[in-house]
Amino acid sequence: MDPEVHLPQVPLRQRTTTLEEFNTLPTHVFPGSARVRTSGELELGGVPVTELVETYGTPVFVMDEADFRSRCRRLAAAFEGGQYVHYASKAFLSVTVARWVAEEGLALDVASQGELEIALAAGFPAERITVHGNNKSVAFLTVAVQAGVELIVIDSVEEIGRLSEVATAAGVTQDVLVRVKPGVHVDTHEFIATSHEDQKFGFSLASGSAERACLAVADAAGMRLRGLHCHVGSQVFEADGFGLAADRLLGLWARLLDELGEESADASALDTLDLGGGYGIAYTPDQEELDVETVASDLLRRVRQAAAERGIDSPNLNVEPGRAIAGPSTVTLYTVGTVKDVHTSDDTVRRYLSVDGGMSDNIRPALYQAEYDCRLANRHATGTLVPTRVVGSHCESGDILINDALMPDDIVAGDILAVPATGAYCYMMSSRYNMLTRPPVVVVGDGASRVMIRRETVADVLALENMPENMPENMPG
Ligand code: LLP
Repeated sequence: MDPEVHLPQVPLRQRTTTLEEFNTLPTHVFPGSARVRTSGELELGGVPVTELVETYGTPVFVMDEADFRSRCRRLAAAFEGGQYVHYASKAFLSVTVARWVAEEGLALDVASQGELEIALAAGFPAERITVHGNNKSVAFLTVAVQAGVELIVIDSVEEIGRLSEVATAAGVTQDVLVRVKPGVHVDTHEFIATSHEDQKFGFSLASGSAERACLAVADAAGMRLRGLHCHVGSQVFEADGFGLAADRLLGLWARLLDELGEESADASALDTLDLGGGYGIAYTPDQEELDVETVASDLLRRVRQAAAERGIDSPNLNVEPGRAIAGPSTVTLYTVGTVKDVHTSDDTVRRYLSVDGGMSDNIRPALYQAEYDCRLANRHATGTLVPTRVVGSHCESGDILINDALMPDDIVAGDILAVPATGAYCYMMSSRYNMLTRPPVVVVGDGASRVMIRRETVADVLALENMPENMPENMPG
């Protein structure tokens, strides 16, 4: 039995230490079009932030279309074809983004009925969609099968029976992958490591349950086993984890070919190894994103070599990057509302800058202790660097965006702060806690801006309430 492997995380380095550094944009953390004008003002997609703030208000997510699209292209080139790159829509999905992904020739990974329905509403071709989820309902499976999605990734024993019934009723043979946990424990935050034994996704390779699930799928009516899937985790910098997982999955692949009989129709349908997403990006200046070209060429080589060593045909290699495409494309702009100096227990002073969003538009610091960078966006700073915490406007002391930074002491109420790398898992994990309604998402490029998703309003929230003016269609009783 392969032992569970723990891989180390790359350590953090230094934070900003001089005013000059603070006034210099860490370009690898900001989207490609970000520039600082000589006036000191930040522009995104050729649009100055003060104009964006005047037009859309704050907080606002500003997404650089060219940055997003260029990452789609890089990944498609690196993995030798857009059809192998399934953008993980959980990172960020809207009708507009689904269309960009389709136009760039990529495939799509959806993980819920809602994500699937948004993709279909955008006209995303169903035959380029892979469907995930550890607890897919009959309704979700039915929508997926009837839409004609390419692949459904089986995650439980119950789902084999459920999908078999749905597909048989629809008169369809549905192509599927089986999700496997290969026991490679990458060192990222515990909540986003997904391939060790003690977590909810997939079938265990070590216990033999993955193999049993594959054979059950091959036997079941209404479905055809096309291959294996795993996702070792997210925000991973130790690329070796992907290769190790691939090796282990190919071991299972070879055993399956044996058991199915190499010449059988079941064996010849096997053609896809999906290694999930997880490529780490830079959130802070000291980090470097994982180089996807290197990862891709290493992985492709390793898979081809491992297949050759086992005397089997090399499968197609699918991947599912989400964060590496969407994350760096977006900057959140906030307005500073209050500045407060607080004496800490060790008797130093910490400055608290409160902004007009917080844990409702970015839960990642509170949930994963995620670290972010932050710059003054409307002008150059001139003050002295002081220990600073950037906090939101929610009724919680854990409502922290940036826990511990050195920031200039001339930042005052009315200044605009820019937090980069907020394109993945921020809007998608947003809430309206304390009834702070969701910010808009604005697209920038070529000196122009437009709304992708408008700001949520209190009227939107009231429209969900059981009040006479919302009757009668939507509410029973
Ligand atoms: N494929 C599968 C099956 C996944 O579960 C995920 C992420 C991905 C692909 C995309 O991973 P990415 O390339 O984006 O790392 N909310 C967390 C991340 C949760 C990721 C869950 N699955 C965060 O904010 O860090």
